[in-house]
Amino acid sequence: MPHPLLDPRRLAALNALGVQQAWVPRDALDETELAALMPHVGPVAPAAGRRQPAAVARADAPAARAEPVARPAAGVPATSAQAADAAAAAAPRAEQPTVAAQRVEQVRALAWEPLQAFTEACRACKLGGMRHQAVFGVGHAQARVMVVGEAPGAEEDRVGEPFVGAAGKLLDNMLRACGLQRHGDDPRSTVYVANVIKCRPPGNRNPEPDEIAQCLPILRRQIELVRPRLLLALGRFAAQSLTGSSEPIGRLRQRAWDWQGIPVVVSYHPAYLLRTPQDKAKAWADLCRAQDLLDAL
Ligand code: URA
Repeated sequence: MPHPLLDPRRLAALNALGVQQAWVPRDALDETELAALMPHVGPVAPAAGRRQPAAVARADAPAARAEPVARPAAGVPATSAQAADAAAAAAPRAEQPTVAAQRVEQVRALAWEPLQAFTEACRACKLGGMRHQAVFGVGHAQARVMVVGEAPGAEEDRVGEPFVGAAGKLLDNMLRACGLQRHGDDPRSTVYVANVIKCRPPGNRNPEPDEIAQCLPILRRQIELVRPRLLLALGRFAAQSLTGSSEPIGRLRQRAWDWQGIPVVVSYHPAYLLRTPQDKAKAWADLCRAQDLLDAL
């Protein structure tokens, strides 16, 4: 039985995220594991006394890379997350507009196909007149895991499916590492993917509060229809929409949330991870948490 940190699934997730190293107590490994994981290190003397952390390298990690990626202590965001949090905190926060109760009631009563038709015909905000098409969602209608992103980009607007660009490729790799995919017949392994916003904001700008407010009833109805066992909220807009909190993502991801009884795991958006690869280790930790929750179901 390998040490839990060396679980092949975890290592596969680490690998898919492109994360090179993680901390693990040196004396948690036997010699064979050490030799397999750190071929460039050579024999390691058994740890004496106090447990020392040792860097465990991915099997294919280049030997030249010596600095391990340290995971921050809980509650202590790493520097880049602090910077992102500071930027988010500094951004002016508009009052959340209220959406007509009539619209909320109308959407709440819709089944899948009418909900999709409603979304495709929607012109409730200015984005409706600018998009090529609304991007409703993709995946299994009874998925065990539902992934929530932010908004379609140019590729998604063209293809009509969420996460088909570069960020989508990373998302697919992350899902694959957890034994999950977006296309398939098995609701255990096929996720459902949707965005908070169904129409592309021009120039890939952030969604505006009125746009989020108009779209949220649709996302809520999608969640009600899928009834997933776990929600994975990627990025600030998904996380804030599902938790109702305006805290920055770096803090939201460190807490356990639920949306009407469904556990919500918050993590970084794949597009952010492409720009900030040093935070991939934290996203990996979030994925592991999601897997642990699923395993416990
Ligand atoms: N980013 C998102 O949040 N959603 C998409 O569909 C594409 C990029």
